[in-house]
Amino acid sequence: MHINIPTEFVSWFRSVTPYINTFRGKVFVIGFNGEMITDAKFVHFIHDINLLASLGVRLVLVHGARPQIQLRLDESQLKTQTVMDIRVTDPAALQCVKESVGRIHHEIAALLSMGLPNSPMANAAIKVSSGNFVIACPYGVIHGVDLLHTGKVRKINVQAITSNLEQGSVVLISPLGYSPTGEIFNLTMENVATETAIALRAEKLIFLWDTLTQHTSPAEEKMPLPREMTVEETKSLLGEKKIATQLSEEVQLFLQCAIKACEMPVARVHLINRHTDGAILQELFTHHGIGTMISKETLQAIRKARIDDVGGILKLIEPLEAEGILVRRGRELLEIEIDRFIVLEHDGIILGCAALYPFSEENSGELACLAIHRDYRNFGHGNRLLKYIEAQAASQGIHTLFVLTTHAMHWFIEHGFSVTTPADLPKAKQNFYNYQRRSKVLIKHL
Ligand SMILES: CC(C)(COP(=O)(O)OP(=O)(O)OC[C@H]1O[C@@H](n2cnc3c(N)ncnc32)[C@H](O)[C@@H]1OP(=O)(O)O)[C@@H](O)C(=O)NCCC(=O)NCCS
Repeated sequence: MHINIPTEFVSWFRSVTPYINTFRGKVFVIGFNGEMITDAKFVHFIHDINLLASLGVRLVLVHGARPQIQLRLDESQLKTQTVMDIRVTDPAALQCVKESVGRIHHEIAALLSMGLPNSPMANAAIKVSSGNFVIACPYGVIHGVDLLHTGKVRKINVQAITSNLEQGSVVLISPLGYSPTGEIFNLTMENVATETAIALRAEKLIFLWDTLTQHTSPAEEKMPLPREMTVEETKSLLGEKKIATQLSEEVQLFLQCAIKACEMPVARVHLINRHTDGAILQELFTHHGIGTMISKETLQAIRKARIDDVGGILKLIEPLEAEGILVRRGRELLEIEIDRFIVLEHDGIILGCAALYPFSEENSGELACLAIHRDYRNFGHGNRLLKYIEAQAASQGIHTLFVLTTHAMHWFIEHGFSVTTPADLPKAKQNFYNYQRRSKVLIKHL
């Protein structure tokens, strides 16, 4: 029987290989709140966790339990005091916390243990480890009120978690912590997830958010956060009242956790909308992602090209060469001329390139092979590469920059170039001018 495998499937599968290679053996800490657990779609999230685990990602799941605790308190007709939005956990409330957290914890472990045939969990056999991984201490007294069994993370038992991860277990952590005095403390999922990620020096800390604003339903939510932010950008966003008030308290808290984690050794923090099916896979296995990623430094840089960029540059320019937009260059020529090139790199992927060829006798230079990946145009990247080339040219004593183009004449005119004739080109270039291509010649005095 002949099976016709769609080519998109094959190319899509191949395109995720670099992510699989990068993620294998890395530690991801994933924090999600109690609302998510009661959602019918939670099982899809478990399927995605199974997939990540099967790819060799070392997973630590930290769950919350706020709505379940509230429900249990209501059932017991217990009222709790809050100080600055922090719940005081007295002994009666602690009983409700233990019951709710214990129940959820077992429910998640049960879902992770599924292995039904004809389901994504078939043959999964995930091992789930839990334990006294979180050492806690009392939150203390705020405005004269003792928060009793409300606590905060004091220490994470890194060795115990790591040895479970090394044995191939998914580590499941609840928002309960234990003190050396034998007490139990009610913690927040955010606190536990952040401190765990920091202590484990995790590659990623991932938070799944529920809502952005209190005023709209999740389906109507717009994502006012950019796709990527540095720690500094995150701090200034939180400092801008107008923007910060559009964000739910939950997201503001996640952003504060992200700042802390990225200032410590956690490489990246991701905020993902839990309502999107497969959100975690889309965020992790596509270059654009679907949520917001926070990192210490920007992931984008313009720099001089290196020999190992040749593959990335070719991938970028070959479709443009095929369309006749750029002059064809072979791999060999590119390797020889790589020192002339600059690249715009984003998270290890080449999104743009340009080259500068000096003609020292005339104090002029050619800007060539300026190209931005189709999906990333109109973000000002072309302009940035041009500015970089202009600065490079000026530092080499080049007074005039020229460019030959068949498709982007107006773009260059809008960037200070003016149309001229091939006769104005440096002599060496004139000899190679291809009259059949009929490229427009544009020139700019620096
Ligand atoms: C030309 C090119 C480098 C621009 O890159 P970019 O990152 O999209 O450019 P910017 O974001 O800095 O500028 C975007 C603006 O230029 C305009 N623009 C983009 N391509 C244009 C073109 N070919 N002609 C005229 N204007 C163009 C956009 O409409 C946008 O205008 P707006 O700001 O008014 O909305 C990119 O379109 C490209 O790679 N083209 C194919 C290769 C090419 O022709 N190279 C030049 C020969 S070396």
